[in-house]
Amino acid sequence: MSGKARLYIPRDAGALGMGSSDVEYALIAALKKRNIDAEFIHTGSRGLYWLEPMIEVATSQGRIAYGPVQVGDVENLLDAGMLDGKAHALRLGKPEEIPFLKRQSRLTFARCGIVDRINLDDYRALGGWQGLEKALSLGPAATVDLVTKSGLRGRGGAGFPTGIKWKTVLDTAGAQKYVCCNADEGDSGTYADRMIMEGDPYTLIEGMAIAGVSVGATKGYIYIRSEYPHSIHVLQRAIDRATAAGIIGANVMGSGKAFHLEIREGAGAYVCGEETAMLDSLEGKRGQVRAKPPLPAHKGLFGKPTVINNVISLASVPWILANGADGYMNFGMGRSRGTMPIQLAGNVKHRGLFETGFGLALGEIVDDIGGGTASGRPVRAVQVGGPLGAYFPRGLFDTKFDIEAFTAAGGLVGHGGVVVFDDTVDMAKMARFAMEFCAIESCGKCTPCRIGSMRGMEVIDRIVKGDRRDDNAALLAELCDTMKFGSLCALGGFVPYPVMSALTHFPEDFGLAAKAA
Ligand SMILES: Cc1cc2nc3c(=O)[nH]c(=O)nc-3n(C[C@H](O)[C@H](O)[C@H](O)COP(=O)(O)O)c2cc1C
Ligand code: SF4
Repeated sequence: MSGKARLYIPRDAGALGMGSSDVEYALIAALKKRNIDAEFIHTGSRGLYWLEPMIEVATSQGRIAYGPVQVGDVENLLDAGMLDGKAHALRLGKPEEIPFLKRQSRLTFARCGIVDRINLDDYRALGGWQGLEKALSLGPAATVDLVTKSGLRGRGGAGFPTGIKWKTVLDTAGAQKYVCCNADEGDSGTYADRMIMEGDPYTLIEGMAIAGVSVGATKGYIYIRSEYPHSIHVLQRAIDRATAAGIIGANVMGSGKAFHLEIREGAGAYVCGEETAMLDSLEGKRGQVRAKPPLPAHKGLFGKPTVINNVISLASVPWILANGADGYMNFGMGRSRGTMPIQLAGNVKHRGLFETGFGLALGEIVDDIGGGTASGRPVRAVQVGGPLGAYFPRGLFDTKFDIEAFTAAGGLVGHGGVVVFDDTVDMAKMARFAMEFCAIESCGKCTPCRIGSMRGMEVIDRIVKGDRRDDNAALLAELCDTMKFGSLCALGGFVPYPVMSALTHFPEDFGLAAKAA
């Protein structure tokens, strides 16, 4: 090594939770003792959480990664020549050559884990702001058209086409319009929103600014759950810098258009991720689901036309504008176009974020990319799409990761969370947990959800106890139908997915005989 050492330290909540800041302090102390001048660059995570803290060093061969590094490894790593990228048991090589990263198509997460997350020059150097510049030169109608042509669908769970939503707001008259970013991210096993907000916040800011200047909204809100303090901190710093640089604010990039951004902290209710409950919460009320119509695109925040999009939907837009609709359409399958950040969680060996075009088989994601279970035991079930997603047995592992294919198989892709369970899981308990979750998180507005979830727990308890098993199983199916078709929103309406999939695919856990195929 010659000159100053340069080390990249991931500081998103995931890496910090694994001890990255302790490792950084140990490195600072050890380098000082050795009289080595060093620069520490704070990045987000690359999303290979089983290898965090993953520390990277700038060397003559490029960036070299080591991980998972613990405080006790620091002296040993420095002795081995870590600053020159030399061999060590923890040496992972060039990060982009690690198979888990190499196999990905990183469009939305292209900069995450690479750049100093709040450095405007870093962002621009890797293609930042090109999408916003393009949107300003194209004008509103052509920008909205391009987003529609890209095939981008909402990544928050419902999969609604983003361009069509934007067009509705563009076409709705209103002196004041808003863009609201849904960063409530309450689904179990999901962290894509958090990762981008803490690793590349300008991508979200740029996506929101594009939405704002395109639909005629001058104000944007990012609704972040209070359990995400690091996201709030990083994003606020990024908003302040982007505003001071004139990129957003009163005169977006000198265009004469205004777009101001503010963060609002949610108190952490799952239902506040439902878009209309989020609007109530943003208005300072208790978060309760509103009946539709009117659509938020017509009458949303404070009764004004409002775009509501998930973090990843908005963060996908800069790439689309900069690279064209066709470029994005080239990824994916069927009507699910572009890429999806799949988030592997639960009992899985390779816990991490894998951005790829839609269309991989579920089995490939779990067994090959995820490496099977962390426990080493056989995979028994996978829940995709959060707490309201179905449990898939091995028999459904051929299902393609595609919105329509998952729906056809009785499940949902949702926000892309994949939670893995080994053969020690009790699926009757998981079904009961789904009902209990619904009972706790229900906003209470409609009866099938508020009361049905309580009755659901009782019925499952009776089945498990052996009390008229077949009758109660039929009653559970009937109750799930009532919840599915009678609930006002998808909290009560989708709980039947985990419950009925557990009952259908794993009847033995309820003490029931398997149905003949
Ligand atoms: C109970 C419930 C919770 C939800 N939680 C979230 C959430 O945390 N984040 C999110 O983006 N969408 C969530 N949604 C979906 C939103 O209602 C809405 O569809 C989404 O924010 C729209 O953005 P998109 O079109 O970009 O996906 C939730 C829906 C329901 C019914
Ligand atoms: S389904 Fe549940 S959460 Fe949704 S509106 Fe009804 S009571 Fe509220």
